[in-house]
Amino acid sequence: MVKGDRFGKYGETKGIARLRQARAADVDYIRALSKKVFQQYGPYENILACWFESGITVTLLALMQKRPVGFVMLDRLEHKWYLPRVCELLAIAVEPLRWRLGIGDLLMRGVQRKAKELGIKTLVLHTAAENLPGQKLFKKHEFIPFKIKKHFYPEGQDALMMYKDIV
Ligand SMILES: CC(C)(COP(=O)(O)OP(=O)(O)OC[C@H]1O[C@@H](n2cnc3c(N)ncnc32)[C@H](O)[C@@H]1OP(=O)(O)O)[C@@H](O)C(=O)NCCC(=O)NCCS
Repeated sequence: MVKGDRFGKYGETKGIARLRQARAADVDYIRALSKKVFQQYGPYENILACWFESGITVTLLALMQKRPVGFVMLDRLEHKWYLPRVCELLAIAVEPLRWRLGIGDLLMRGVQRKAKELGIKTLVLHTAAENLPGQKLFKKHEFIPFKIKKHFYPEGQDALMMYKDIV
């Protein structure tokens, strides 16, 4: 499989993966993948499924041959009066068997495009201070580290906060 750079509405990787908005029925997939990749930080299979079902997120799913292979989730914080047009990227995850194929890049491009469409000016995120692959992905997409939150995750890990102005 080849990494590509031909983009559709949300971005495509040479026809091998595409994005669509997640639907209610995708909650089981979001729960299962979250359990696989976020379990060491806490009960994120429940937390992310709950956020998704509450309708407070914009969630994009990456598909390969019509099967889901990853997702990215954005919180719509822009309505909070004290943080106008700031939004949190809550999570991004790719199936471990599909890592390093460009799907993370595809999801990052798609979510930034979606955020722009929504008029969001700044994206913020938390990632585990020990999660170097995650940080490399975010740095590649020009996110800037700005703060450490000690013991942020339920299992006790520290979080690194990063932001990007997307205007
Ligand atoms: C982080 C994650 C989403 C990356 O997905 P992916 O599809 O493998 O990423 P891509 O193949 O598109 O790689 C994009 C960039 O991410 C970085 N990256 C991804 N995996 C990496 C690794 N193991 N080591 C170093 N850098 C890595 C690189 O900068 C890479 O760009 P490059 O290929 O030009 O070097 C995936 O590893 C994952 O789901 N991890 C578990 C969940 C997680 O940690 N999410 C982030 C915090 S919310």
